[in-house]
Amino acid sequence: MLRNGINFIVTKDHEESCSLVARSLADVVLRDENACLGLATGGSMTGVYAQLVLLSKAEGISFGKAFTVNLDEYLGLEPTHSQSYHHYMEHHLFRHLDFDQGQVFVPNGTLSQKLMLGEFQEFLASHPRDIQLLGVGSNGHIGFNEPAPFFSPRAHIVTLEEKTRQDNRRFFNDLAEVPIQAVTMGIGDILDAERIVMVIYGASKLKALKALLDDEKVDPMIPCTALKLHSKVDVIVPRDLAQQAELL
Ligand code: F6R
Repeated sequence: MLRNGINFIVTKDHEESCSLVARSLADVVLRDENACLGLATGGSMTGVYAQLVLLSKAEGISFGKAFTVNLDEYLGLEPTHSQSYHHYMEHHLFRHLDFDQGQVFVPNGTLSQKLMLGEFQEFLASHPRDIQLLGVGSNGHIGFNEPAPFFSPRAHIVTLEEKTRQDNRRFFNDLAEVPIQAVTMGIGDILDAERIVMVIYGASKLKALKALLDDEKVDPMIPCTALKLHSKVDVIVPRDLAQQAELL
């Protein structure tokens, strides 16, 4: 159902959301083997990648010519660090399928800022994305675009909100280990993708979901509302959350 220009798709549960999104990603590559996929990390995505691996193996789908680019990365973590997003992608997706290491891009959070942002922006400019996958933070962030008085259009360094660090603490031994800064695509970079698919997973995302549904307001203090400016957005919502948000 269409609300505020966004297509909301209600699924039975998160598992069904993951299968649906995995199918969409696979179909993009089946249509164009050189496609570029914009990828995300986090708890909402692990099931998506697990399903994508299963279905790609079952159908013999090759990603060898595809390109991928990730939304964000923590500052200061080596790509090999167990909590880096680079490592996450290797662990959950890349190593299971035939991705070409030379064609996948996860920003490197250990480079100088000039180099880090330069190579990120250059990759984005030279590889238009056919699809961008998104999760959403409990504070409404997309990528690591945290609530702010204005949208930052392009790749930039952010200081993470305390709330975000606490939300992500579950992946680390303790809060002190969660990096304070990150590098992220800007809102303009996200909106540049031809199509956007957002997976909403978890009760803490209700406020963000309601901000997408309730009115036409685009508010940088709830960054996901920027999606109302894009013409091809699917938001995938499990039934229980859709009911709570009065979408059904
Ligand atoms: C991750 C990302 C973040 C997450 C968001 C939700 O690359 O860009 O915006 O999508 O923080 O995280 P989970 O899925 O762990 O709730």
